Amino acid sequence: MGSKVSVVGAGFYGSTTAMRLAEYNIFETVVLTDIVEGKPEGLALDMNQSRSIEGFETKIIGATTTAEGAGYEATANSDVVVITAGLPRKPGMSRMDLIGVNAGIVRGVAENIAKHSPNAVIIVVSNPLDEMTALAQLATGFPRNRVMGQAGMLDTARFTNFVAEKLGVPVSAVKTLTLGSHGETMVPVPSRCTVNGTPLTEKLSAAEIEELVVRTRNGGAEVVALLKTGSAYYAPSAAAARMAKAVIEDSGAVMPVCAWVDGEFGISGVYLGVEAKIGRSGIQKVVETELSAHELAELKVAAEAVRTKQADVQSL
Ligand code: NAI
Ligand code: 2OP
Repeated sequence: MGSKVSVVGAGFYGSTTAMRLAEYNIFETVVLTDIVEGKPEGLALDMNQSRSIEGFETKIIGATTTAEGAGYEATANSDVVVITAGLPRKPGMSRMDLIGVNAGIVRGVAENIAKHSPNAVIIVVSNPLDEMTALAQLATGFPRNRVMGQAGMLDTARFTNFVAEKLGVPVSAVKTLTLGSHGETMVPVPSRCTVNGTPLTEKLSAAEIEELVVRTRNGGAEVVALLKTGSAYYAPSAAAARMAKAVIEDSGAVMPVCAWVDGEFGISGVYLGVEAKIGRSGIQKVVETELSAHELAELKVAAEAVRTKQADVQSL
């Protein structure tokens, strides 16, 4: 049987992710769900009608669900599930301001997914990301390698774009990296950044790099402030879709993702943004990236910040 991916939440993030996944033409089925009646069905119909133009055969199925679990049969036996359900932030809000309401949504979704797709790999994107990833693992009871969050791919892509624009070079010439949380304690890693193989530190001054680091850390807020309603979804959906592709193709690609850290970097027992090898079983291995002493210290600060919040979500 062909592979199946479900995307829960048919808002901006979910619908663009479903479209990207379908256009890869590697899944038999992409299921898109939402609690707003008719929205996922309508979007699926529209997406299916693009198949002959874009030249892909993947079938998109839309399904209305309820918070209580009706309609989840459509997602049954998914290989991968992307959870995008939840509110996005408004201008001036931090991702953490969403924790109360989104925790209720993500817990319910995760429980229903566990019931219908007990063997799925879950990719969480709802915010606040690190906390919602920890909550999804708790609510599903899945092994930790099968639950991960999307943040680092996006933050890294933003950093890369800023560096490429600053230097006037193609994005393909630039390699950057961000670790840590998808929030205040995000850790852009200049020591691992290169431009055509040359260290970024030889291309830009410390002050110029710091300016790009700060812009990367505020990358989501910058888009929110411009949109005034809702948050980014083109780059975020590209990131989540690539992660789902790596899982289904069992590619072993190394990506910055939110993964369970258990001893790596001297950090234990927390979901945190790190580089990891992704395959059919989810996280195959956390990669211990070489960091400067300052970057490692920042990663440890991030770990402690998210550890406190992740403990809080257990009661939400
Ligand atoms: P949106 O408001 O466009 O869509 C959210 C959708 O979730 C709505 O259609 C809503 O009806 C649906 N929903 C709510 N409760 C549900 C439930 N119980 N079951 C199924 N669907 C439900 O928001 P958008 O832009 O799609 O963002 C979604 C989430 O992703 C937000 O929490 C946002 O903060 C987060 N996000 C995370 C990023 C990351 O890098 N991790 C980047 C961008 C957004
Ligand atoms: C972003 O980084 C809001 O988390 C979302 O765009």
